[in-house]
Amino acid sequence: MSSTTGIDGAAARVLEVDGLIVRYGTRTAVDGVTFQVRRGEVFGLLGPNGAGKTSTLSAVEGLLKPQGGRVVVDGIDVERNPTAARARLGVQLQASSFQSELTIEEIVRLYAGLYGQRVTKQDIADRIRDVGLGDELGKRFKSLSGGQQQRLSLLIAVIHQPVLLLLDEPTSGLDPQSRRQLWDRIETLRADGGSIVLTTHSMEEAQAVCDRVAIIDHGALLVVDTPAGLIARHRDDPRVLTVARGAVTLEDVFIGLTGSDIRD
Ligand SMILES: Nc1ncnc2c1ncn2[C@@H]1O[C@H](COP(=O)(O)OP(=O)(O)OP(=O)(O)O)[C@@H](O)[C@H]1O
Ligand SMILES: [Mg+2]
Repeated sequence: MSSTTGIDGAAARVLEVDGLIVRYGTRTAVDGVTFQVRRGEVFGLLGPNGAGKTSTLSAVEGLLKPQGGRVVVDGIDVERNPTAARARLGVQLQASSFQSELTIEEIVRLYAGLYGQRVTKQDIADRIRDVGLGDELGKRFKSLSGGQQQRLSLLIAVIHQPVLLLLDEPTSGLDPQSRRQLWDRIETLRADGGSIVLTTHSMEEAQAVCDRVAIIDHGALLVVDTPAGLIARHRDDPRVLTVARGAVTLEDVFIGLTGSDIRD
């Protein structure tokens, strides 16, 4: 049997990041990061401010050209075939903004069209209602609350049924209700066969929705494991025990491995 058909073979991987290097001038933001995301998995990128999470996602998306390494999305090399790779990706960036003068109905229609989706006025209204924005159809993006903007940008990120969804800090600034709703949405997407890479600063979120997480610091990947596996593996690490305030948590492991210093 060829290695591409095994359970951990290439066909089972929806994303391969191999030796990724991203530099901004002389500053190295991503320094040889390697990880794989399996099909149907929710994968979390954790790391302090400036660790290189957004830069990694930007390279996966093909928004910036890495100085080294390789990114393969659903079997497609992003650098060699950016258009085909991008068609398989849904992206919600850390700060998304849309054409501020358009209504949300117009924005959804615009993006459906850009992605070549045939949708009727009714389809658009249904989708907007599905994310709880049924009463806001005629409102402009800039007049929506942060949580409403977030819901709309997620709707647009998945409008073309991507095989891999990238979410950069999707719940920062959301109230607990909206955060729970987004977690439910992530679980629904996974149940429907979708794969998701998200970044978060919330260890609670990582434990609630991620099958596996990677901890990145100073552009380097420190560990990849399930949240429970990380705790089990590092619960006796002296760096972790120093910061633990009781039973060892994922946050203790995170701070133990990345240090207590505040980043720039
Ligand atoms: N456009 C840019 N030009 C120059 N340096 C940049 C640029 N974008 C990011 N950097 C630098 O690259 C490093 C990694 O930044 P990145 O945004 O990838 O971190 P992050 O892990 O997403 O952080 P955060 O948690 O704050 O979002 C940081 O040192 C940052 O200052
Ligand atoms: Mg970031």
